[in-house]
Amino acid sequence: MTQTLTLRRPDDWHLHLRDGAMLKAVLPETARHFGRAIIMPNLVPPVVTSADAVAYRERIMAALPEGATFQPLMTLYLTEHTQAADVRAAAESGLIRAVKLYPAGATTNSHGGVRDLEKVRPVLEMMAEIGLPLCIHGEVTTPEVDIFDREAVFIDTVLDPLRRATPGLRVVMEHITTAQGVAYARSASDLAATITTHHLVINRNHILVGGIKPHYYCLPVAKREEHRLALREAATSGEATFFLGTDSAPHMDALKEHACGCAGCFTATNTMSILAEVFEQDGALDRLEAFTSLNGPAFYRLPVNEDTIALTKGEAVSYPSKIDTGEGMVTVFDPGFPLHWRVA
Ligand code: DOR
Ligand code: ZN
Repeated sequence: MTQTLTLRRPDDWHLHLRDGAMLKAVLPETARHFGRAIIMPNLVPPVVTSADAVAYRERIMAALPEGATFQPLMTLYLTEHTQAADVRAAAESGLIRAVKLYPAGATTNSHGGVRDLEKVRPVLEMMAEIGLPLCIHGEVTTPEVDIFDREAVFIDTVLDPLRRATPGLRVVMEHITTAQGVAYARSASDLAATITTHHLVINRNHILVGGIKPHYYCLPVAKREEHRLALREAATSGEATFFLGTDSAPHMDALKEHACGCAGCFTATNTMSILAEVFEQDGALDRLEAFTSLNGPAFYRLPVNEDTIALTKGEAVSYPSKIDTGEGMVTVFDPGFPLHWRVA
């Protein structure tokens, strides 16, 4: 007997599409299954102004396959020079749905991010006033802080003080990787957290045991098993606080398999199959739709998608191991277990 699961069409609340040949190659992978995605602005140069976002949105629309109905939800990259009036106008026109805060130096193309939060106070206060979510890459960059502690230290020393100083600010804790992140996200209704597909699957052993595995390296880096289990419990709980943000982050293989390899796992292609497998393993298939399709729109105050997708369970499904961009290959995330759910 075939098992079928029908879900409202999912959205991806954290996605890297890049630009040029990479955009053209990876966009169909997301547009095939997802209705919408929050598009990360960390291009080179980053998407800083509303004019940058208009231009980037046009490049995305031009790269969409014929007939695709996918909608990019644009964001702006917060800098110490960002103008509150520009952000407000972009939000009020519906051009952008969030602003992204990268602590300077935290990850790929974050050097133009924020060093001194006081410099962005007018923007944050305006965002609190209009209810525009701030998506935060939550890691400190202090060299003395161990990379595996950077998320927990950020919550205590940056995020909590920031939220206390900015009442009403709505925050999405992006790609949480720790039990501390799960607990903090649960602590207030103006907080939410995205969880990636890969952090539900891998812990730090997957990166480091038996040889270094560059395609499992991302930021925030995967933590101990107890943290992966906390993320599984949160994602499969159905709680409104938690929703899918794949952080699918393609880099050419030559730059991943390198002496100084880039951070990012490319999961756009097989995310829905992996998630169905994960939720089934945890006896939570009935809560998959909340995670992929309902909780995100509720936090972003958008309607859920009108249409549905069907997942069917059968023989093992295979996906290409790599995507060809024409300028280099991108490796698709390997969950390390067989997948049985396919999107019909
Ligand atoms: O692994 C990651 N890759 N984490 C990030 O925060 C950025 C992303 C990228 O843009 O490659
Ligand atoms: Zn990201």
